[in-house]
This record gives sequence, structure tokens and C-alpha cells, in this order.
Amino acid sequence: MSDKEKEGLDVSEAQIAVHWQEEEYFPPSSQFIAQANMTDSTIYDRMSLDNFPECFKEYADMLDWYQYWHTTLDTSDAPCWKWFVGGKINASYNCVDRHLKKYKNKAALIFVPEPEEEPHLPITYQELYVRVNEMAALLQDFCGLKAGDRVTIHMPMTPELPVTMLACARLGVIHSVVFAGFSGRACGERISDSTSRLLITMDAYYRSGSLLEHKDKADEAVRVADEEGHTVEKVLVWQRYPGKYSSKTPLVEGRDFIVNDLLKQYHGKRIDPVPMPAEAPLFLMYTSGTTGRPKGCQHGTGGYLAYVTATSKYVQDIHPEDVYWCMADIGWITGHSYIVYGPLSLAATSVLFEGVPTYPDAGRAWRIAERLDVNIFHTAPTTIRMLRKAGPDEPQKYNYHFKHMTTVGEPIEPEVWRWYYHVVGKGEAAIVDTWWQTETGGFLCTTVPALQPMKPGSAGPAAPGIHPVIYDDEGNEVPAGSNKAGNICIRNPWPGGFQTIWGDRNRYVSTYYARYCKNPESKDWRDWPYLPGDAAMQAKDGYFRILGRIDDVINVAGHRLGTKELESACLAVPEIAEAAVVPRVDEVKGRVPDIYVSLKPGYSASKEIEKKVENAIAETIGKIAKPKHVFIVPDMPKTRSGKIMRRVLAAVSNNMNVGDVTTLANPEVVEQVRKMVQGDAPVAVQQDGPEDLKRFGQE
Ligand code: WT7
Repeated sequence: MSDKEKEGLDVSEAQIAVHWQEEEYFPPSSQFIAQANMTDSTIYDRMSLDNFPECFKEYADMLDWYQYWHTTLDTSDAPCWKWFVGGKINASYNCVDRHLKKYKNKAALIFVPEPEEEPHLPITYQELYVRVNEMAALLQDFCGLKAGDRVTIHMPMTPELPVTMLACARLGVIHSVVFAGFSGRACGERISDSTSRLLITMDAYYRSGSLLEHKDKADEAVRVADEEGHTVEKVLVWQRYPGKYSSKTPLVEGRDFIVNDLLKQYHGKRIDPVPMPAEAPLFLMYTSGTTGRPKGCQHGTGGYLAYVTATSKYVQDIHPEDVYWCMADIGWITGHSYIVYGPLSLAATSVLFEGVPTYPDAGRAWRIAERLDVNIFHTAPTTIRMLRKAGPDEPQKYNYHFKHMTTVGEPIEPEVWRWYYHVVGKGEAAIVDTWWQTETGGFLCTTVPALQPMKPGSAGPAAPGIHPVIYDDEGNEVPAGSNKAGNICIRNPWPGGFQTIWGDRNRYVSTYYARYCKNPESKDWRDWPYLPGDAAMQAKDGYFRILGRIDDVINVAGHRLGTKELESACLAVPEIAEAAVVPRVDEVKGRVPDIYVSLKPGYSASKEIEKKVENAIAETIGKIAKPKHVFIVPDMPKTRSGKIMRRVLAAVSNNMNVGDVTTLANPEVVEQVRKMVQGDAPVAVQQDGPEDLKRFGQE
């Protein structure tokens, strides 16, 4: 008998009960439908599997190509799919140059600095063109970069970030943007994994009212990359205030250069965009997995750009005359696809906000929306919960009107959805709940807003051209529309999907395809369902409800953190013998990590050790991973084979039923740990918790 069976845990996904009730529909308004980009429901027939893969020509035709492709989908290296093969294209040209004729004087970006006294900074398409060209000239001539080289960008939310990305894209240089909130160490590991020649950073940026030191992280990043045997040639430092160095960290002679100074030599320089093969990598985006180090998801050029352009147009309903504000950070995939590449490819005006939406008060976001007359708004449930908590009545004080709102990153509670709809959207905006991932490049499940009604708590049906299937643990298809939970997969490749994990094709195949692959030798895409790693169920109406991860990945404020990464950070503290990380429910962030550690013999618990663990996490990963609690326990609950029972710890952290623990090697520990976490008095136990917690640690 396996440990799982002994403990009576052999419950298949399909038997796990569902948490939220099915909800009522909300139809989009007739005004919205009257102006929408996509009102033709035959799109689903056009993009049916019968018409696959040629149906995606409709998406690629939204772009300008130097050379048209000859093969829509090449499967010869399955499951590394190649889209639009033979085509030549440049992403920077499509996001900038091609709009000059009609829109050169229109704002491409509007930068909103965090300090409210600093003016908004609109950047027209012409101005963006000039800046991207000059930066590309610098990268080419001063740094010697050429197509295929990698560059790591560790920058905050300022216009210099998209300028740098588009300058790389212009040259065919592969950018790897690391979220500015990540630590220098995390950045250094990504530099060495991608063997980036260059690190591009900024001296400082604003967050919650203070100008944060940022350049110091570059020094740490270069040091860590060095330790791992990779030398960074140059560090380019942008100035948050051009002409003034705002960091306390000195420049390293011969290695560090101020971009704003260097750019003067490239004044007026123009660099022709390099026509790149459609399947050339455009960028890497690192994301956490179950084990080991973060994975560098490699996205291609033509397929990716076609997919984010089309979904920005059909799902987010972006027209050039709209003012579009996505409040994500460009350092995550949402920002790449739906602040930079998708909206700019459509000649939209994309708002870029440096700061925190609740600083200096809960009205900040709505003042920005009012002043810029934003009409498309895009954010995550965690931010919606935060805004609702900080100022439930704030939106009505401001005169803005959204026609459309997006939510992304985690399931949104129907209660929170209703506040978003009635209060933020003032009952006027169509909402799309978009389910997708770093790996998928763009939306997988969502309503097309003029075609289907909204249903709170459901991500909606599959996006056009996406064909999901739910499998049970044995690999049988769960009947469509049966409301039974299982592992959601996508039957077909689509142009936005990532190409591989940078430098680790085996990990790509084993993580995303091995589980339900019908024949590992096959070159037929039908044999390779893609496994996103989420549990889901489909209702009769075809809408999917996403139930959370099936692996031990914690979704904190809409971002994935691998429990193994956190645990190995804890183990770097000399006193720690064992570490286990579990998710705890948090009102605002959705989930936050709770950390359980046991000490090596000879040490006793202390506040200092707790602090050391917290610091180790902040230094290894970043403040985003800050634990809610660090519990120093006398011992970990373990199976007889010595496996730490994370499931039991997760139940304790969340006042859930710990289940039968009598077969553990040390059942008495469970009560000791429970008292430590919940206090001496017994706490009312929830019999039924959220699906991801019930499933956590079971595999
Ligand atoms: C994971 C991907 C997609 C960009 C932001 C996060 C969860 C994402 C939803 C949604 C329920 C969602 C999934 C997914 N997720 N969107 N609308 N409803 N869950 O990207 O860091 O790659 O995380 O976020 O679990 O697998 P990511």
C-alpha cells in the first residue's frame, strides 16, 4: 500500500467537492456590444478544431510581416511547436513604427509617477520611436549586442522599461525581464541561467511614498551570477530622474554605465528593425515550479505577438481611441502581454503606473482613472480585494467610466466580483475573468465580452481557438459540462504558447506534456495535450471554474511561488534542519506562505532564528514571498517513510480538519504543533476548505 492509500487520501480530483455556488449571469450592456470589436459568434466555428491550425491566420494577419510564412504550424519537433514558419517579422516594428503614419502624435504610453505632485508624462508613438531607436543604437554599438543574445532587465514600472524591451526586440535580442521586487540573488540566478551578457537596471524607484534604492541589487545579482560561473559584461543603469543619480551605491568602474549619459552619443540615431524568423525567441520569463529552480519560459516572436494582439483586440476590446490601464507590473507575463506587446501592437494608449494604488490613500487609482479618462481597466483579484478593503465607497466619488474590466491571476470570489462590477465598474463595464499562465502567453479561458454573459467566479468558456479537456487522474476524459473536477488540459497548440524551457527541453516535456501524452514518439499534435497544472470543472453552459494548482505551488497575490524554492531558502539558515512551507488563507493576498521549521540538535527556538528565516527568504526570493508566520516546531509530522506531511501542516494553518493522523510515525506532534499555531483552546475546525488547500501536499 502506498502512503496515500494508508492514510485514506486516495480521493480522486473528481470526488473533491466544489466550493462556490454556481452564479447568475450578467449580460453586457447594449452600448458595449454596439462598439465592440468582436460581435460575430461564428468566430468559434471559424476557430474550431476542424479548421486548426490554419484558423490562426486570422490572428497573424493583424501583424505586418516582412515575409509571409509558408507553414502555419510545424510539428516536426513535437512538442516544441513552431508557428508561422518561413515568416519574417519584427515585434518592435509592429508595436511602434507601423503606427507612425496614422498615430505618431498619439500617446503610446502615459507614465504616472507615484508621487502625485509629479506630472503625468505622455509619450507619443513618435517619441517612443525615437527613444527605442536611440536605445537600440546604444545596445548595438556600445554593447555589441546582436540577434539571439540575452539581456536581463531588472527595472521598475517606468517608461524606460518598455523602451528597453522594444529596443532589444528591434535587434532580435532576447530580453529576460525580472520583476523589480525580486532580490538581487533571484535576479543573479536568472542572469546566469539565461547567460545574459548584460544587466540593465535603474538607480531607484518609488513605492508607497519612498524612493527605494535599487542599484544595490545589481551588484548582488552580478556577484551571484559570478559565483555560478557566469560573468556579466556590463551593467547599464537608467536614472529615475534623468541627469541625477539617485542611488547610494557607487558605480563600478569599467562595468557600470549610466544609460542617460551614454544616450547623448546616439542622439537622432535610427536602427532598422531586424527581420527575425517568426519562431525566433522574443523573450524569456521565469516562473516557479514544483521543484528546483525557476524555469525560463521561452516565448517566440510571430506566434506570441499574433496571439496577444488578437486577444487584446477581441477579449479586451482595445481600440486605438481607448485609454487602457493594466495595473499589473511589466515584470510579470501580464505586463509583457497586456501592457506592452498586445496594446502597443494595436496602437492603444497604455497607462503605466509606478506606484501602489492605495498610496497615499484609497482614492489614488480612481483619481488616475478620472484624470486620464481611462475606459479599459485590468487588474488582479488581490488588488481588487485590497482596494475594496481600503475604500469600499471610493470609486463613486470619482467621475470615470469603464466600458471594460479584466481580472487575472487567481479565482475571484463572487462577492469580490460583485463589488468590482457594481462599485468599480458602476454597473456599466463588461468584465472578463481571464485564466492563463506565464507559459501560455495569453488568455486561455475567458468570455469574449460582447458574445457571452459574465458569470461571477467562472473564467468563462475557452477563448476562440483554444480547446480544453478535463482529464481524471487515470487519464480518462471527464465528460464536458459535467461539473466534475479534474485536471484541465488544452488539446491543441496555439500561437501564444511558450516554445520550451530555456536550456531544458526535457523539463519542458516532462512538466507540461508527459502526464497525458498518448505517444512520446508522435509528431501529431493530437497526441500531446498541454497540462497547465490547474484543477478545474466545466459547467453545463461550457464555462470553466478554475479550482487552483494541482502541484505544490502557492499563488500569492496572483503570483506563483514554488514551495521548494522557499524551503531551500530556509535551509540556508545554519540552525535549520528541516523546513516545510504551506499556504495560509489571506483576506487580501489570497494565499500567503506559513513556514514550519525544525532545528538542528543543540539549538533552541528564538526570535532571532525566526528573523533569520524571514531574512533568508527576502534575500533569496524577495519581499513578495514574506511569510505570514515562522513556526519553530519540535518535529515535523511525518509518515513512517519519513515524508513531511505538508497536508497536515496546511490543515493546521487554516483551521481545517487534519484528517486521520494515527498512521503517522509521530502522531503526537500534530497536537503540539496545533497548539503552537492555534493556541491551547480547541478551535472550531472547518470541515470543508478551499479546493487548493484540500489538495495541497497530497501528491
Ligand atoms: C496560475 C498562473 C496569467 C497571468 C498571471 C499569473 C492561476 C491565473 C486565473 C484566473 C483562476 C487563475 C492559475 C494559473 N490563475 N489566472 N482567472 N482564475 N486562476 O500568471 O504566475 O503564471 O500563474 O495562476 O493557477 O496556473 P502565473
